[in-house]
Amino acid sequence: EKSGYEHFMLKEIFEQPQTIFDSFRGRLDVEQAMLTLSGLDAIKDKLLAARRIIIVACGTSWHAGLLAEYLIEELCRVNVEVEYASEFRYRNPIIDENDVIIAVSQSGETADTLVALENAKKQGATIFGIVNVVGSSIARMADAGAYTHAGPEIGVASTKAFTAQLVVLELFALKLAQMKGTASPERLRQLIAALHAVPEQVQWILDNQLDNIKRIATKYKDARDFLFLGRGYNFPIALEGALKLKEISYIHAEGYPAAEMKHGPIALVDEHLPVVFVATQDPFYEKVVSNMQEIKARKGRLIAVVSEGDEMAEQLAEDVITVPKSDELISPLLAVVPLQLLSYYVGIELQVDVDKPRNLAKSVTVE
Ligand code: M6R
Repeated sequence: EKSGYEHFMLKEIFEQPQTIFDSFRGRLDVEQAMLTLSGLDAIKDKLLAARRIIIVACGTSWHAGLLAEYLIEELCRVNVEVEYASEFRYRNPIIDENDVIIAVSQSGETADTLVALENAKKQGATIFGIVNVVGSSIARMADAGAYTHAGPEIGVASTKAFTAQLVVLELFALKLAQMKGTASPERLRQLIAALHAVPEQVQWILDNQLDNIKRIATKYKDARDFLFLGRGYNFPIALEGALKLKEISYIHAEGYPAAEMKHGPIALVDEHLPVVFVATQDPFYEKVVSNMQEIKARKGRLIAVVSEGDEMAEQLAEDVITVPKSDELISPLLAVVPLQLLSYYVGIELQVDVDKPRNLAKSVTVE
């Protein structure tokens, strides 16, 4: 069932051109610039009236939710809050029938997420589920939803499920922006085209960056700690890069907003510390470059994930991983792929059981 791959994790990373396509198939019409997300139509009135949207999730799914906050606020001009399910359920949050909650869960069985949603539903909130496993508990209890269509994910570390979640959240943001009239038809057309190009661009990464990433994995495998930094749309990707590395290699890693490092983590930087910057072309790019200079001045080992043709980063960083150019709202979908591969290859170097890392379960059904 591993179709010739050594591990499920690698197979699932390589499936992404197909699974990303599957998650927008039938939902995206590039020619007509049309979006179809029937689950969203089902709660249209609630959504249009909502003064805020709350996203509830755990782990990697929470990272997808964090990116969605940036996307939905940018495109739909509605307030979004992102909550760890385990905190939200016990905090006695203020919820009423005007709230729409987006639940993000691969398994649809995560206990904290499920109970948080049940509580919110009792208080009148409308629940929209973004779930991978068809017929799972969260899928069944939600008022409406959209499946991610990534297919079964066996590796404990979420990879293809994450990119599928991002696709559905992008579609959600685009469709809501279209309904609300908060983004111009021209902008929506650009974004639809950019999303449509992603499967091919992910394939490009898999075809062209693999040896480079393996080399980087071998070079840094003995590091004790890693820092992952990004700003804006790439901040959630930095968090996800750090989580993947922790899970799959047992190396301590922290994800941080690049500018926030000055308020603490920069104390960790010395000539032994690899610092991975997610620095694709976007409005934050110049600022990220100055953060890279700050790390370099303290002799940190700079690894940068950048857009094709970025000569500045190539001069600055010790190691560079290239991804194709895309729209700033879409490029996180590309930037995460090298980070998945990096953690995979570091894990392999360190002989970790990457499909079943210690202490982790595929779905956390106890609190
Ligand atoms: O099934 P869910 O998406 O609700 O699971 C949430 C987390 O348990 C999950 O994303 C976890 O963080 C993964 N091990 C990440 O690789």
